[in-house]
Amino acid sequence: MAWKKIAEKGDIADGKGKAYKIDGKQIAIFNQNGYHALDDLCVHQDGSLAPGKLDGDIVECPLHFWHYNIKSGELKDYL
Ligand code: FES
Repeated sequence: MAWKKIAEKGDIADGKGKAYKIDGKQIAIFNQNGYHALDDLCVHQDGSLAPGKLDGDIVECPLHFWHYNIKSGELKDYL
């Protein structure tokens, strides 16, 4: 796998996420104590995670509030 530059440092505000499309795939990058990337796709109904609210390492899908760990991509709950 080759590294590809998709953003400049500072493009994503602290504590926020942003969606990028690269090689036909949409990813979410979060600036939360470092930069973390995961698929920008909630497994519930395909919502974008990038605009979700962060609480520590957890992002909340803005559509129906499922939670994911931004470091591992793991689904944490589906309340
Ligand atoms: S699409 Fe993410 S919780 Fe429903």
